[in-house]
Amino acid sequence: MALEIRSIKGTQDILPSESYQWQFVERLFLDMAKNYGFSEIRVPVFEDKNLFIRSVGDTTDVVQKEMYTFTDQGGRELALRPEGTAGINRAVIENGILNEALPAKLCYNISCFRAEKPQAGRYRQFHQLGMELFGAHSPAADAEVIAFVDEFFAVLGIQGISLEINSIGCPTCRKEYHKALKEYFSQHKDELCETCLTRLEKNPLRILDCKSPVCREIAKDAPVGLDYLCDDCKTHFEGLKKRLDALNIAYTVNPRIVRGLDYYTKTVFEFVSGDIGAQSTVCGGGRYDGLIRSLGGNDQPGIGYAMGIERLLMTLKAQNIEIPKPPTCDLYIASIGEDASLRAMQLTALLRGEGFFAECDLMDRSVKAQMKYANKIGAKFSMVLGDDELKNNQAAVKNMETGESRPLSLEEEPFLRFFYDAQIEDLSDSVNEMLKSEE
Ligand code: HAM
Repeated sequence: MALEIRSIKGTQDILPSESYQWQFVERLFLDMAKNYGFSEIRVPVFEDKNLFIRSVGDTTDVVQKEMYTFTDQGGRELALRPEGTAGINRAVIENGILNEALPAKLCYNISCFRAEKPQAGRYRQFHQLGMELFGAHSPAADAEVIAFVDEFFAVLGIQGISLEINSIGCPTCRKEYHKALKEYFSQHKDELCETCLTRLEKNPLRILDCKSPVCREIAKDAPVGLDYLCDDCKTHFEGLKKRLDALNIAYTVNPRIVRGLDYYTKTVFEFVSGDIGAQSTVCGGGRYDGLIRSLGGNDQPGIGYAMGIERLLMTLKAQNIEIPKPPTCDLYIASIGEDASLRAMQLTALLRGEGFFAECDLMDRSVKAQMKYANKIGAKFSMVLGDDELKNNQAAVKNMETGESRPLSLEEEPFLRFFYDAQIEDLSDSVNEMLKSEE
């Protein structure tokens, strides 16, 4: 029978053969985030459509072209989240988080949805690990979130990801900058795409990240924001650079980074990988000092970033960085007959209760077929239980790698001790290997 309904273009199934890699980076991220004082927040997958229009901005590609919107049974206009910052800002205001200790430090692991043209590293459902930090005006906060990403990549062993930073100013200095952009782009009115013509009137900054090749070419010579920064924004940017220098974090200033979302003020940054093709921005973020207020909250600043898990894993793969494989089965217990099957289940439960990975037959298969399965799943040890083994309360435990067998009592204490000893031996083998590779 042929499969009639297939997955949607731009979505991916994460299969067991790769889900361990996702789990590894997600756990590492959440563990490391704890050390920096960040706690996880979980927000809904869909929100009021207007939340994204007001925060991401109605002249952005994300809102104009890429949002998955729908009307629900109650006539509400909703959208699948194209990113996490808007929903988290809403949640922070709605739940009074900014009335608690500041800075508020939140991190997240979410799926996002954008109707973009799928290609390598660009999906319609993708996943982000991110952080949002609220209440801190100081560039120390900008440096802290950037330092986290830098350390995260280092712990994973990633090399060759470059950090690019820029400042796009605040509403005060942006007025002058917008004027300069308007003047410049007005000279190219005839060549700009349709969307950029409306952007020219409403928000000329957005022309700078238009994906049309003609607009891109024109944008190359446009005035840069850094030349229009007010004193406060200049001091902030210098403060960030000073802190990155103090932390030995390498960066380049790229005045062309404007980011594709409207809420940014002052600092914007991207971590770009040289190994994954055109969709090379693994992580992007920046400061958004006016967002909380524009959504109806107090006047509190914010800064954050998000990294795409798909692009992160692509970078790890391109750099041949191996993620530790999940542990394999410590013991597979094969059985012959009903009584042995019951005993196998009890011993399996005993081992699992002590934190070991154990399996027994669930398919009523022959011993031969059971052993074939033990081989397939890469079990470290196996044993076969039949009438004799039950009578003697003892069975032969077989090391599946060496093929050696030895008798093992099925009494709880010696039985468990055998697997604890094997675990210690395994551990000391891997420590020795590690020491050897460091020599
Ligand atoms: P963004 O640059 O739109 O920023 O997305 C962040 C990251 O998500 C990108 O660098 C990329 O790795 C990944 N990403 C974006 N779109 C796709 C896609 N279609 N397919 C695969 N991966 C994708 C934001 O979303 C902001 N909310 C980040 C932020 C948080 N700024 C402040 N706080």
